[in-house]
Amino acid sequence: MCGIFAYYNWNVPRERRAILQLLVKGLRRLEYRGYDSAGLSVDGDENVPAATLNAVSNNTSPSKLQSVRKSVVIKEQGKIDHLEAKINETFTENPDTFDAEVLVGTHCGIAHTRWATHGPPAPRNSHPQTSDSINNEFVVVHNGIITNHRELRAFLTKQGFQFESDTDTEVVPKLAKYLFSRIQGKRMLFRELVVEVMRHLDGAFALIFKSVHYPNELVACKRGSPLILGVGETSSNDDGERDEKRPRLDSSLRSAEYYLSSDAAAVVEHTKRVIVLEEGDIVHLRDGKHGVYHTKRSSNSNDHATLLKRLESGANSPASESTADGNHASAMPLEVVREAQVLRMEVEQIMKGEYDHFMLKEIFEQPDSLLNSMRGRIELSASSVFSHVPTEEIADGTGGPGKKTTPKQVRFNVPSFPRGLDKPRIVLGGLSEHLNTMNRSRRLMFVGCGTSFHAAVAARGFIEEMAEIPVDLQLASDLMDRQCPIFREDTCIFLSQSGETADTLQALRYAKARGALCVGVTNTVGSAIARETDCGVYIHCGAEIGVASTKAYTSQIVVLTMIALAMAANKNDKAARSEEVINALVSLPEIVRKALQLDKHIQSLAKELYEEQSLLVFGRGYNYSTSLEAALKVKELAYMHSEGINAGEMKHGPLALIDSNLPVIVVCTKTDAVYPKMVSVIEQLRARQARLIVLCTEDDEELISQKDKFASLIIVPSSVDILQPVVNIVPLQLLSYHLTVLREFDVDQPRNLAKSVTVT
Ligand code: F6R
Repeated sequence: MCGIFAYYNWNVPRERRAILQLLVKGLRRLEYRGYDSAGLSVDGDENVPAATLNAVSNNTSPSKLQSVRKSVVIKEQGKIDHLEAKINETFTENPDTFDAEVLVGTHCGIAHTRWATHGPPAPRNSHPQTSDSINNEFVVVHNGIITNHRELRAFLTKQGFQFESDTDTEVVPKLAKYLFSRIQGKRMLFRELVVEVMRHLDGAFALIFKSVHYPNELVACKRGSPLILGVGETSSNDDGERDEKRPRLDSSLRSAEYYLSSDAAAVVEHTKRVIVLEEGDIVHLRDGKHGVYHTKRSSNSNDHATLLKRLESGANSPASESTADGNHASAMPLEVVREAQVLRMEVEQIMKGEYDHFMLKEIFEQPDSLLNSMRGRIELSASSVFSHVPTEEIADGTGGPGKKTTPKQVRFNVPSFPRGLDKPRIVLGGLSEHLNTMNRSRRLMFVGCGTSFHAAVAARGFIEEMAEIPVDLQLASDLMDRQCPIFREDTCIFLSQSGETADTLQALRYAKARGALCVGVTNTVGSAIARETDCGVYIHCGAEIGVASTKAYTSQIVVLTMIALAMAANKNDKAARSEEVINALVSLPEIVRKALQLDKHIQSLAKELYEEQSLLVFGRGYNYSTSLEAALKVKELAYMHSEGINAGEMKHGPLALIDSNLPVIVVCTKTDAVYPKMVSVIEQLRARQARLIVLCTEDDEELISQKDKFASLIIVPSSVDILQPVVNIVPLQLLSYHLTVLREFDVDQPRNLAKSVTVT
């Protein structure tokens, strides 16, 4: 929900045009997080008026004073393309400034792409938000929500500030300006001022500040929203202090580039060295170096009314008393060491490559993403055989690429899965120390939203079967609405692709406070859910950029399956079933590869359906999840009404909808124990002349022989019952994709949605 990005260069000469392009590109990488408006701020050519600069003199050296340029703010409603057009328009009037090398190679630029929460999409509500639109003294981009913005707005209005937007964010730069005005004449570092601002804010935020009062510096901070610092390949904080033989580097000789971003997608093409910032961290970029500082919320930090009253009455806030020497000792944030990590992500992962859309790329990536979810986590037995392997073109098979192999009982060498044990097993390092506790829990509770919740619906039956513990599924928002009872004997498993979904995060904190063991299943390394859970498993499906989740869903089912297997590892009576499912996991990528070959068939089916207004999807047992997930994809992307219905409920109402016009997809795969019941569902629908699209497995001679009686038949390869939903969803993901293309809607960025929903 919203993406923020910043670029800082120190002694790296760049034209302003290049800096603007770099910022715009950063926003394009984050556009999936929000796309209803965008904006940025760079240093301009006009100087800041003398009256404003008076305030600067105590904070900056005279040499810096000469280079204090006004901050230019450009923002526009709509997608990044609109912002780019506005930038071109702004600078074509004065091409010299567009091409000027800015500030002898040193520059700070900040940028934002928005998903509206407070105030409709409009230029005035776009970010950066400013302290004043004339001088832009403080300029801020924000991801998250400031929950006490009303109180702050009322306070600042009383102090004479005029608000120009409907956003919660606007209080932040205005508060910075107000606090700054109160410390004039006293020395206060930019980061200290930001700490003062943070103390007054409630809610979730990642913020980046730029100010004419602190030229050539950027400060960012985070609490509750993600933020990473990309450290340019040449940047280094090592100035020789520790090595006496090496001369200490004069900062004017230092050259450095830094990037701040909501996620790695905007950084990876510039550098792979990143620092994932923690709650309460502040980053200060100045003199070509970065510093990371940390501030804890003080116990009274929620008492904003008192803080504001103190400010109003002229008292300094407790954290910013003046010292005896007249200097301003602010809430000194402590410097902390945060090691840079090397990103595992490749640039190709965030590019569309040969595909027209990210969603299509991500659907087709599933054989690989599934393999990545299993890599290093499966050990096969010496005698493992694979009965669920497609008959042709097994790239990794013993027959070699393209060679035919026998359909049944194929010996299948999968290099990434070691063999040797008596029985196959699952190794989940992140859970190993907690499996006993999980097995002893009174209840396993799975919590998520949307597609992540559907993955839990898919895996529930198998988890119940293997763990033999009651399994409860909870939509995170509903759990919180009901204040559902949770106990210390519970294990709560939180599913989230992004790891940032506010509803899920709130439910996690709620469960943690009640003493439950909290397990995270997420795709995003270092995300809030990954950090705040007691333990967990990454799904490792790679960056998912399309707003509609596809490969994360199938990887989540696979990871939940592996968790169930790991929990049953010591149960002899589950050994045969475990072996069957582990072997099926190994062959799953190839089966999914085969299911993807249905693309052309599905495209022609979409041509028959795209003008319809409504579509029902019936499923049952393991494939109830398939019906829910397929319907969600169709409605969120193709804007076509669609409902996933448990076929067991058909006679209790939905049957009344059936006529010969309404298309109905029935998922009826033979691998499922409820198959005979689904066949009878088909019979009952046929008796009412339903327009049936049946999804069955390729070994289902009975249904295949009745092909002419259906409007359409989708024939998929078989896996085992628990993994069949992974295969079945593939043609239905493709269907939602082609329906959307034919209906001419935006596949990767459906209206009103955003990839990570960081508001409740
Ligand atoms: C639908 C979709 C959403 C997400 C949901 C939870 O295609 O993507 O329903 O699944 O917003 O997001 P995460 O998994 O990031 O918590």
